[in-house]
Amino acid sequence: MVGFSRAPQELVCDGVSLSALAEAEGTPVYVYSAAVLRDRYRAIDAAFGVYPHRLHYALKANSSLALARLLAGLGSAADANSIWEIELAQKAGFAPADIVFTGVGKGPAELDAAVPLGLKAINVESAGELARVEAIATRLGVRARVALRVNPDIDAKSHPHISTGLKINKFGIPRDAARELLTTVATRTALSLVAIHVHVGSQVTTAEPLARAAALVADLAGDAKQHGVALEYLDLGGGLGISYDEGDVLSPERYADELVSAVRSTGLPIVIEPGRAIAGPAGALIAQVIDIKPRTADSDFAVLDAGMTELMRPALYGAYHRIEPLRPRAGATRQYEFVGPVCESSDVVGRDRFVTPLEVGDLVAIRDAGAYGSAMASNYNRRPLPPEVLVDAGAWRVIRRRQTIGDMTELES
Ligand SMILES: Cc1ncc(COP(=O)(O)O)c(C=O)c1O
Repeated sequence: MVGFSRAPQELVCDGVSLSALAEAEGTPVYVYSAAVLRDRYRAIDAAFGVYPHRLHYALKANSSLALARLLAGLGSAADANSIWEIELAQKAGFAPADIVFTGVGKGPAELDAAVPLGLKAINVESAGELARVEAIATRLGVRARVALRVNPDIDAKSHPHISTGLKINKFGIPRDAARELLTTVATRTALSLVAIHVHVGSQVTTAEPLARAAALVADLAGDAKQHGVALEYLDLGGGLGISYDEGDVLSPERYADELVSAVRSTGLPIVIEPGRAIAGPAGALIAQVIDIKPRTADSDFAVLDAGMTELMRPALYGAYHRIEPLRPRAGATRQYEFVGPVCESSDVVGRDRFVTPLEVGDLVAIRDAGAYGSAMASNYNRRPLPPEVLVDAGAWRVIRRRQTIGDMTELES
């Protein structure tokens, strides 16, 4: 059985005992299944069928070098959100022509470095940024490939902190301003407009916002054509949600169908930037129960050795992750508030969960933590970044060792 499963009682990853792995590497530890990563990438890729398309894995979700390399090896292209993610992408084997540079605030040094690289596109987020890219390209005597990120004013119906498509959000160029830019961009000789880009948010679980945004992009592509701009592709962003609670979400097939139907009339290839849908289900954070103390008459606190420093999503936006004991004990389920060790009351990993009885020393898996988990970890309370382990074909290896206090202080004087 591929991925995380029970065999028969204990939670394993691709057949590897997570308890044995945690014993060897200590906790907290991130564990990733190479098989799940491959399956998720291939499922989304296959869903587009023969319609011309390319997946640009969103490195922001998880840019561990080994995972990035694995995805590059599968034929993925990359979406990088900073010049540092571009550097990482190149190290992982992505060619500049396979990298799109996204992000709402690209600094001057980042743009100076990015323009001469020959990226697939710099996805610009404002008229000002377009002018800055143009100035650099003019100075360097090159033609910069750009995409315009349009803000479609569409509600992604995701959590407000990860919705990006409303006009009150900081992202992209309002549609009318984007239409206006299309009237002049063909005359700007240092720029080559290759795509229109949209991204309405992350963890989108319904088709409608994604389909509407894609239709708007198709409409703008028509405008571009009228103004003499021959686009190469349409970049429809990321956003495909995953099932954190085992409820229904949009399938890759339905997602692809909706996008293809919305843009087919343009005849242009589709680029998408999936992050969460590839990396999320491939990872779990394994933690140990380090204390149990009474909370209410009917519930206890289970204090874990992992919290908001290792997995910020629950504290940041109330995100839900399943939490399961690796080796469930016999007995009726009990209510627990799973909390981390950090000095913040928001450091809650899972509220009001019913699981089999826990004791200090027990190990739990915090599921679907492969995306926006390790990538968002911090050193708050001087907690070291946890190690990361990749399980592949029944064997596992450490792909990032645990950080030490020495690693941290090396940067300081
Ligand atoms: C521009 C852009 N593309 C792609 C993504 C990846 O999104 P997801 O992980 O939901 O697929 C994001 C993340 O929010 C983003 O901002």
